[in-house]
Amino acid sequence: MVKICCIGAGYVGGPTMAVIALKCPSVEVAVVDIWDKRIAAWNSDQLPIYEPGLDDVVKQCRGKNLFFSTDVKKHVKEADIVFVSVNTPTKTTGLGAGKAADLTYWESAARMIADVSESSKVVVEKSTVPVKTAEAIEKILSHNSKGIKFQILSNPEFLAEGTAIQDLFNPDRVLIGGRETPEGQEAIQALKDVYAQWVSEDRIITTNLWSAELSKLAANAFLAQRISSVNAMSALCEATGANVSQVSHAIGKDTRIGPKFLNTSVGFGGSCFQKDILNLVYICECNGLPEVAEYWRQVVKINDYQKSRFVNRVVASMFNTVSTKKIAILGFAFKKDTGDTRETPAIDVCKGLLVDKAELSIYDPQVTQDQIQRDLTLRKFDWDHPIHLQPVNPTSCFNVDQVKVVRDAYEATKGAHGICILTEWDEFKSLDYNKIYENMQKPAFIFDGRYVIDADKLREIGFIVFSIGKPL
Ligand code: NAD
Ligand code: UGA
Repeated sequence: MVKICCIGAGYVGGPTMAVIALKCPSVEVAVVDIWDKRIAAWNSDQLPIYEPGLDDVVKQCRGKNLFFSTDVKKHVKEADIVFVSVNTPTKTTGLGAGKAADLTYWESAARMIADVSESSKVVVEKSTVPVKTAEAIEKILSHNSKGIKFQILSNPEFLAEGTAIQDLFNPDRVLIGGRETPEGQEAIQALKDVYAQWVSEDRIITTNLWSAELSKLAANAFLAQRISSVNAMSALCEATGANVSQVSHAIGKDTRIGPKFLNTSVGFGGSCFQKDILNLVYICECNGLPEVAEYWRQVVKINDYQKSRFVNRVVASMFNTVSTKKIAILGFAFKKDTGDTRETPAIDVCKGLLVDKAELSIYDPQVTQDQIQRDLTLRKFDWDHPIHLQPVNPTSCFNVDQVKVVRDAYEATKGAHGICILTEWDEFKSLDYNKIYENMQKPAFIFDGRYVIDADKLREIGFIVFSIGKPL
């Protein structure tokens, strides 16, 4: 029986390994983490991650060929293949701060693998890492080994949150990069054999290590670039009377462009787009390519611009002040169908409104009050260090009384002057907006950052409506 161990039981490690366990009954999979509460949650009925379909997969395999454990060393020692899926956040201090990837967690995992191993292993980079990380990892592993051979593979993950299980069941492609030596090719084949149990051969791409590492950063940069492109167009649409949905539809019909990822929004969020682009920018700078670095940096700049443009629109529309006005925030997660708030545009929008002294009443179906309070008090980039590793004394830019987290959209909007829709949860489409209007201060404003509502219908009710990229 092949034994797999995955270091890091997060949004990637947990779902990815659960699917491997489900699809490969003859493989034993152990997911390990130093975060004991997270492991306890994986072993409970309340999984630490909200992801449609995940509960079912975990229930089918847990205790059979899928195990969650804090005994990191034991499972690494026993494994044939070790995936490393730890977090690779943006550095907050020192060389490359604010851009470069912080590989502290990765390096400590690699050193631990070298220390505890007693047999040869394939070590798989699952985390998103800078190009050439595999070279550094090889050095750490080979210098510490006791004659044991390690083969490093790059197998970046392309799942999106909210659709992770679907993406893992039916991936567009699986990418495996390895050394172009007989041993490297043998390691690639071993990993291919795992995926080939449910992914067709033509969807398993093999490359050299550096192409695989760079392809992951490139894929995220291209995806985010599309969003920044359409968001840049949304500003022009508002200025000219064009409608960004019509523009997206029209350009998306060109088969060379395609219709996906052309939804304008209050800005992209999530743990990876910004982090990976900044990492790409840093790599370009380090390789003496400032023009290329600047090109990609613009994708993040436009995203920041979109978020501040939204805040400015809210404040300007509400007679240039939101001081002491109640604003309902509907949605805090970075997209629907996830409870993840990492780098969600809601954080910047809320902070922008708080600086203008607004009183926020926040509702999200999946995000807890604790999480929202923590997100609004942490410094930029600190969020990507897991909770147990976050700084103990975060700074606060607002008075705690300015933020209330409530249990439903009706409570959030009661007595409010304005509503900001920041996540496209389906339930926001079917709210009783007549009732909401009745209970709000007048004039009642609604700012749709996600195209959830039918602006014309809401105008008929009496709302003053702003939808990004649409004529006012
Ligand atoms: P995460 O923060 O949810 O999980 C990482 C886990 O690793 C944490 O639970 C942490 O406690 C654990 N960890 C850190 N150091 C450890 C160590 N030395 N030993 C054992 N456990 C350790 O992160 P994530 O969202 O799962 O992302 C992991 C990687 O995958 C990142 O590089 C990310 O860029 C990449 N990625 C993420 C997504 C996504 O949708 N979240 C998609 C594709 C790729
Ligand atoms: C993204 C990629 O889609 C995955 O392929 C990749 O594996 C992952 O990043 C990663 O490396 O972490 P994810 O961030 O989970 O996945 O979710 P997306 O669906 O890509 O959405 C990211 C952000 O862009 C969200 O805030 C979403 O609302 C926004 N978005 C997306 C738009 O504003 N417009 C769109 O048209 C699409």
